[in-house]
This record gives sequence, C-alpha cells and structure tokens, in this order.
Amino acid sequence: MMQNLTNEVAKRRTFAIISHPDAGKTTITEQLLLFGGVIREAGTVKAKKSGHFATSDWMDIEKKRGISVTSSVMQFEYQGKRINILDTPGHEDFSEDTYRTLMAVDAAVMVIDSAKGIEPQTKKLFKVVKKRGIPIFTFMNKLDRDGREPLDLIAELEDLLGIEGVAMNWPIGMGKGLKGLYDIANHRIELYRAEAADKYLELDEDGRLSEDNPLTKESIYDDTLGDIELLHEAGNTFDAAKVAVGDQTPVFFGSALTNFGVETFLEQYVKIAPSPDSHEVTLANDDKEELAADDEQFAGFVFKIQANMNPAHRDRIAFVRICSGEFEKGIDVTLARTGKSIRLNNATEFMSSERVQVSNAVAGDIVGLYDTGNFQIGDSIYSGKRKVEFQELPQFTPELFMQVTAKNVMKQKSFHKGMQQLVQEGAVQLYRNYQTDDYILGAVGQLQFEVFQYRMLNEYNSEVVMTPIGSRVARWIDQSQLDPKMSSSRNLLVKDRFDQPLFLFENQFALRWFADKYPDVQLHAKL
Ligand code: G4P
Repeated sequence: MMQNLTNEVAKRRTFAIISHPDAGKTTITEQLLLFGGVIREAGTVKAKKSGHFATSDWMDIEKKRGISVTSSVMQFEYQGKRINILDTPGHEDFSEDTYRTLMAVDAAVMVIDSAKGIEPQTKKLFKVVKKRGIPIFTFMNKLDRDGREPLDLIAELEDLLGIEGVAMNWPIGMGKGLKGLYDIANHRIELYRAEAADKYLELDEDGRLSEDNPLTKESIYDDTLGDIELLHEAGNTFDAAKVAVGDQTPVFFGSALTNFGVETFLEQYVKIAPSPDSHEVTLANDDKEELAADDEQFAGFVFKIQANMNPAHRDRIAFVRICSGEFEKGIDVTLARTGKSIRLNNATEFMSSERVQVSNAVAGDIVGLYDTGNFQIGDSIYSGKRKVEFQELPQFTPELFMQVTAKNVMKQKSFHKGMQQLVQEGAVQLYRNYQTDDYILGAVGQLQFEVFQYRMLNEYNSEVVMTPIGSRVARWIDQSQLDPKMSSSRNLLVKDRFDQPLFLFENQFALRWFADKYPDVQLHAKL
C-alpha cells in the first residue's frame, strides 16, 4: 500500500480540453506536454494529428489518426503535481466518447479562438461540463492575431454560456501590436517575444509600471489600465467558491502557437484546479454514500471502451477512471453489474508516446484494462466486500440518424448479435421505428456510423446497409401523452432501447410547429 494515499490523491489534476476544431487544442496540449517534459520538440503531437478521413475503414482511420489510444490520456508531472489530460476527440471523430470522457474529469479547460469567440462545438461540450458543476477554465487563444475585443470575449461568456468570466491576465495589444500580458494574478507584466531574463516586469502597488519603462509611453498601455479598471468596477473578481462549482471561469489570454501565456496558465491552473473529489455511490442496500477519493477501497467506473486497437489481437481496452483507493497490478475486483470477480493483471496507463504497464495508480488516474468482453460503458468495479456502484452515465441526445438493415437476410443472427454488443458497448445508440420496428441508429458524430459498419463486418461478419435519415432533433415524450397520430412527415416516431418513445424532428422548425400544435405535450432532450 502506498504510504500516504491522501497526499498522492491531492497531487492529481485530471482534466479535459474542450474546444471547437481549430481553436488550438492540439497546439496547447503540445505546449503542456513540453512543459511536462513528455515530448522534447513542438510538432510531435501535431505531426501525428489526423488528416482528413472520410474513409469507412476504421483501422485505416486509427492508423491515420496515429495518436489514437496512446494519447487518449496524457500524463505528466509538473511542479510536484500529476497531470492527466484526457483527450476529447473532435473534428470527424467527435462522438459520444467525447461527451463521456467529460464524465471522468475533475475540471475542463475551454480553448477559444479569440478571433471567433464561442463556436458551436465548444457550446455543446460546455453544456455537458456545466451540468456536472465542475470548474471550467478558459484560454483565449491566438492573441498573436487580430481578434475580438477582450471585453467582448468576456461578455460573450456570460451572454452565450451563462458563466461569469474573471480575467486572470489581460492582453496588452493584439495581433502585430501585441506587447504582452498584464498578469493580474501574479502582479507583473509578461512581455511578448522577450528573452527569458527580461520577460517579466514587476508592477508597483497601484498595479503600474515604473514610469521610465518605454511601455508606459504607449497608448496601448493606457488602454490596458483602462480595461483593468473597468473590470474592477464591474465587480469581476476571482471567487474560488464560484469557480469550484462552475459558476465562474478564470480566463487566461495567450497564444499557444508562440508559446505565450501557456506556462503562466499552467502554473495558475495547478494551483487553482481541484484534486479528485468524492463520488456518490449506491451501496448493496440501495443507500447512497459519498465515497472519498482517498478511501482505501479501490473503486472506479468504465467511461470508454475502445476495440480492436491491435488487429492481430482484437483486443478491447476498457478505460477506467479511478475514483478511490489505489490500483495495483493483480488486484481482485468485483464487477458491480454482474457480481463477477476479476483479477486485473493486465492494465495500462498512458503516456503520450507509448503505453506502459501500470504499477500503481490512485484516484484521478485512468487505467486501461485489457478486456475480453467483461465490461460495458458505465460499469463500476470495486475491491473488497463492500459493493459500491457509481451513478449511471447520462444518455446524450444523438443528432445524426441512419436506418440499418442486414444486407444478407440469411445472416440475421450475426447481425443481431453484433448490433446488441456494439450498442451495449456504447458505440452507437439504437432506436426502433414505432410502427415498423425497423432499426435506426443514432450518433453524435458521423464516424460512429463508419466504425459501426466496419466492426459489424469485421467482428461479426455482418454486412449492413445504412440509409441516412440525416440530422434530426430528438425529443422524448411521456408515454401517457403519446398519440401515434402526432407522427407526421415532419417527424419520425421511434422508441429507444428502454422502450421510451421519442420523436425525431426534421429540424428546429418542425419541432416548434409541433410544440405550437400540441402546447400541453412535454418534450424532453437528454443531455
Ligand atoms: P485544434 O486541435 O483545436 O483543432 O487546433 P490546432 O491546435 O490544430 O490549431 C489549428 C490551427 O490554428 C493550426 O494552424 C495552428 O497552428 C493554429 N494555431 C493554434 N494556436 C495558435 C495561436 O496561438 N496563434 C495562431 N496564429 N495560430 C494558432 P493550421 O494552419 O491549421 O495548421 P498547421 O499548418 O499549423 O499544422
């Protein structure tokens, strides 16, 4: 046993970066890995980043993606803290896994392109994180380019996301005129493109530079002081309690590409961001209890399953977020859903460029378990005799739908088997047409369908025919309010795998039309 579990857990900082494609997530991750000493050269992650892939060959996708599983979790030490960054796939590989990963972190970092502001994917991911009530940090990126007014960007956080932004630093100029950052938290100015020795200028008690500094002669300096005064007057001050529950987001400005402001961000981040907290669990007698992160009992939950990483072995890896206790190689655990005992001999923790065998890991860490089909997404595992079960993972509202049938009617058995297993694994969501019982698949990203089709063929020897239904707005309806006559050409009535009915509306317009026509009917979205 580790001597001091409490101390080890307190060192953990586990987070995900959420952003819209191209905001700079890869670039900033790479800078963080450089500071953590995991990689030596910028470009290492970038070079492996996916190109465009529309092909339906999943292994090919994996190959092209390159970083795939090995970078699902990136781990490094920084200033005595153990950082775990969980990758949230975006672009074409945006999927429910992206959302589920957000269930396994203790905080999120939102990267925003300062020229574009808040974009759709950021908004979606933000919603999921916000619902969890965990801290959200913001990095306004690309300051080396002309972007929007910083005050505008802060206001947009409040207007579009409903979260109060509190500036931790403030840009002095922007684009070609970028001079530096007024570092409010550290009471200094960080100069842009300065030699290391001259990089920081201390401020006096009033928050000003000494007057002989040439920067004080520039109008941009006065503008910055003016903005900061405005921020103070607006009462926008750091409030740790609000940050802790996701009601306020500390905002950092910077430029990931030129490595400006990233280290200051990381330094502040490890100070402010939380270490793993307790989790609510259900005990064998259905009582609820808070399981402390430094409880000696090992427990965790599966938030992601990735299959066929190695075509030669057809292995699956179940990603487990450790919520309490310590993981040791060979530990015996019980799978809460089935009561089955499993010895965990073969586990992996993740470094950026290689998988290494795990020895010890504690709450906040992620381990990858080789899986021969035992695990499902959302499963709880625990050591010892006391049964603990974590809360169910939420269901997410799919946006894309496909009708699916077996190409060969003689092969219905393998079709159903594959379908059942892949749905259980959480690869796609399954619905059935309310009238005809036809299979309809739902996903949040197109790649989920491609992976499904590929795996049906390769793992279950079942060729499937997929007919796109396209993008739909899914809304659940209570069985008691349902009248099949409500179904029209503008919506499709289906049931989910728990037999709950829902409508797939053609678009927002069709949804509004329905709401107007049936004002008493309550429709619900999942997360
Ligand atoms: P993503 O993972 O969020 O999709 O974004 P990524 O880091 O790949 O960055 C997207 C593009 O934005 C890249 O340019 C990257 O170099 C650029 N970028 C990231 N951070 C900054 C920044 O602080 N300032 C500026 N000016 N650009 C930034 P690209 O041309 O699409 O790719 P590449 O040619 O650099 O590979």
